[in-house]
Amino acid sequence: MKKLTSFAFLLSILMSLTLISCSPSEEDTGGAGIGIPQHTKKLVMATNAEFPPFEFKAEDGSYQGIDVEIMQAICKATGRELVVEDIAFDSIIPAVTSGKADCGVAGMTITEDRLRNVDFTMPYYEAFQVIVVPKDSAIQGTDDLKGKRIGVQIGTTGDTLASDIEGVSMNRFSKGADAIVALTQNKVDAVVIDNEPAKAFVAKNADKLVILSEPLTKESYAMAVKKGNNELLSLLNTQIERMMNDGTMASIRAKYEGAAE
Ligand code: ARG
Repeated sequence: MKKLTSFAFLLSILMSLTLISCSPSEEDTGGAGIGIPQHTKKLVMATNAEFPPFEFKAEDGSYQGIDVEIMQAICKATGRELVVEDIAFDSIIPAVTSGKADCGVAGMTITEDRLRNVDFTMPYYEAFQVIVVPKDSAIQGTDDLKGKRIGVQIGTTGDTLASDIEGVSMNRFSKGADAIVALTQNKVDAVVIDNEPAKAFVAKNADKLVILSEPLTKESYAMAVKKGNNELLSLLNTQIERMMNDGTMASIRAKYEGAAE
């Protein structure tokens, strides 16, 4: 009986020790639980894989693109396993704030509005919005968009920007590609979208569509983390900086940019 009691005592100490040693790193990573052998920490990246060349689903079902490779490189360097959560673009920030995902990486522009809900890393990409129109369109620039039917991906900066133009009728799509299809079918007059995806989408419709040369905005892409998650924020910043300096970023970009041209 005595033996049994001391054994139980020992067991309870062991269990509480395991609990203590696991808990700090557990929260956001879904690492090893009690009794389960320790395995690689997971890093969950929420994205919307409808945004080539930053994130898209390849024919074999795998996720590819600049953002995906950046995150793979970060995970490799920090001993993590990347998990890609492919969700609606306007669900990414809620996924990050609720802790369902560790970070949002989706060619996401830093905006004042978003900064109220999440923290952003340093910028890793400079982008801009462009106007895509049919080849024979009379629309030559922003001024001509007044009162027109405009297609955008819902919840994007293109959506915000276009919605502010006088008299427009907004057509909000869950995917940028669907806005482009609507444009080829004459259901909208113009699409406002980020420059690199615009190139990728227009390349598939090179006989019908053009990108106007005048850029609408200057924007910076960064990764979003839950407010106050300074540990992850500084890990990501350190890695972004490293990859900007050692050429990793440039080679990832080179692999995808221009691929559509
Ligand atoms: N840069 C734009 C924004 O932040 C569009 C991003 C869309 N990204 C995506 N993965 N669908 O609003």
